[in-house]
Amino acid sequence: MSNKRPNKEAMARVPETLRRVKNIIGVFSAKGGVGKSEISLNLALSLADKGYAVGLLDADIYGPSQPVLLEASSEEIDVKDNKLLVPLNKKGIKFISMGLIARDQKPVIWRGPMVSGAVMQLMSQTDWQELDYLIIDTPPGTGDVQLTLLQRLPLNGAIVVTTPQDVSTSDTRKGIEMIKRLELPILGLIENMSFFKPSDSKKKYFIFGKGGGRNLATEYGLELLSEIPLLEKKEFVILYELNDYKLIFDSIAKKVIKNMEIVKKSVSQIIPQKKV
Ligand SMILES: Nc1ncnc2c1ncn2[C@@H]1O[C@H](COP(=O)(O)OP(=O)(O)OP(=O)(O)O)[C@@H](O)[C@H]1O
Ligand SMILES: [Mg+2]
Repeated sequence: MSNKRPNKEAMARVPETLRRVKNIIGVFSAKGGVGKSEISLNLALSLADKGYAVGLLDADIYGPSQPVLLEASSEEIDVKDNKLLVPLNKKGIKFISMGLIARDQKPVIWRGPMVSGAVMQLMSQTDWQELDYLIIDTPPGTGDVQLTLLQRLPLNGAIVVTTPQDVSTSDTRKGIEMIKRLELPILGLIENMSFFKPSDSKKKYFIFGKGGGRNLATEYGLELLSEIPLLEKKEFVILYELNDYKLIFDSIAKKVIKNMEIVKKSVSQIIPQKKV
């Protein structure tokens, strides 16, 4: 697999703070509200649980949800040597969020280049130190926002999230086409909210239709990393702390690690690995 994204030359310009970050993975979807944030967080928790050094960057400038999930507040952010942000440590992961720093502005109207500029700045001015995986929870948005993020961030791989409905899979198809055009390796597709299974029954209810994610994965030759069931949320809960979901995210993490290794092997044949 080749990698002709603009970052090929930019490899030499990888910011100092990211040089010891081994894998940067963006979680994308073409539609909002399909579970990017939920999946980014729980994947990060699973990787950390396996002993990897993990960072989570919440790049959702419009409505950051991670600070709420992780009970983080902007007062917790430290600045090192007057220039670098020290990420928070939450549940064993290093965490930083647009929501913790861009609070009083009105980013809802930001266009793609502004979003990607701000995210890139946050990413490169955070003191990540050494990380095995940095997971980026991306904002929902029109093609404009997604496209500039994909072009500007030094990602090594993408995970694409969809829900089973036709409207979601057809949007996701456009998203996949865009990522492929930029030749960013896709590590796999996740179908979220696939079905509902009451805890007292074995029956699965396919509320939003069945097989949309699987068909899409087949169409593009992608691995379907998981079909994640809908959880009836009675109260605030971190999915990874529920046994059934822990198993699901551990399985996703395993496949992501494997696919990242495969991608790296094929890319490193083309791009000489830089010593840092
Ligand atoms: N499998 C699931 N079961 C139950 N609730 C879920 C599931 N996945 C996500 N949710 C919930 O659905 C809502 C939307 O999920 P989330 O915020 O992760 O989506 P998103 O794609 O990040 O949205 P946005 O595009 O707005 O950033 C959240 O309240 C989240 O907790
Ligand atoms: Mg989100």
